[in-house]
Amino acid sequence: MIKVGLIGCGFFAVNQMQGWADAEGPASLRSATATRTGWPRWARASASRSADDAARMMREADLDVVDIATTVPSHRPLVTAAAEARLHAICQKPFAETLEDARAMVAAMERAGRVLMVHENFRWQSPIRAVLAALREDAVGRPFFGRVSFRSGYDVFSGQPYLATDPRFIIQDLGIHILDIARALFGEVDRLSASTARVNPAICGEDVATILMDHAGGVTSLVDCSYATRRDETFPRP
Ligand SMILES: NC(=O)c1ccc[n+]([C@@H]2O[C@H](COP(=O)([O-])OP(=O)(O)OC[C@H]3O[C@@H](n4cnc5c(N)ncnc54)[C@H](O)[C@@H]3O)[C@@H](O)[C@H]2O)c1
Repeated sequence: MIKVGLIGCGFFAVNQMQGWADAEGPASLRSATATRTGWPRWARASASRSADDAARMMREADLDVVDIATTVPSHRPLVTAAAEARLHAICQKPFAETLEDARAMVAAMERAGRVLMVHENFRWQSPIRAVLAALREDAVGRPFFGRVSFRSGYDVFSGQPYLATDPRFIIQDLGIHILDIARALFGEVDRLSASTARVNPAICGEDVATILMDHAGGVTSLVDCSYATRRDETFPRP
């Protein structure tokens, strides 16, 4: 039996709850039950937004894994607390605000001898798995160019108001998913250049990003992201 604690109960955490509940296999089903059972007892920890309360849950709630579904400023204290409580952790993207924070979290979990996973889910979506399988089966030969595009005018700010006020927006929020898909498809990146723009005057960060990359295996790819593009919507919905 794997016992899982969920930290954060905002916009995205509901998907984590449903994900744990839908997971197959006795271990996962038990963990979903444990999550539900533990929820009322520790709900206050999320409401208070205190890293101390979450750390107390990690120490006292008899868990194996914590699923950290909070926004990025809380990731380093929460992952550090997970390492101190010797729990495995899965942490939402964006993993860290700085490279220093990212390295500190990885080092803390390595010292604790526990597994740290970054919740990077787009590469696991069925259409992306199908493209990856086709590439691995050599269905299209050896690619030399790829374009991964996500252009939308969907109002993400109504569900996640913090996205409008953060000085960094599309690369940090959506772009990292699209960049990770390019990395899954074409491998590690040697060199990149990016141009960004802010089209929506009501937000603080960039809402358009175009990124050109040279991958180590020889592929050139283009990742283009926009939340300023009105078109027939393909934005994923529940
Ligand atoms: N993987 C995806 O597809 C995807 C999609 C949307 C959001 N996200 C990510 O999920 C994370 C959360 O986003 P959201 O939109 O749900 O944010 P949100 O602000 O709606 O929810 C965050 C929750 O965390 C709680 N919280 C913050 N610090 C805490 C702490 N120290 N202890 C306990 N609770 C704490 C807040 O009270 C809030 O309930 C972000 O990093 C976001 O980028 C991922």
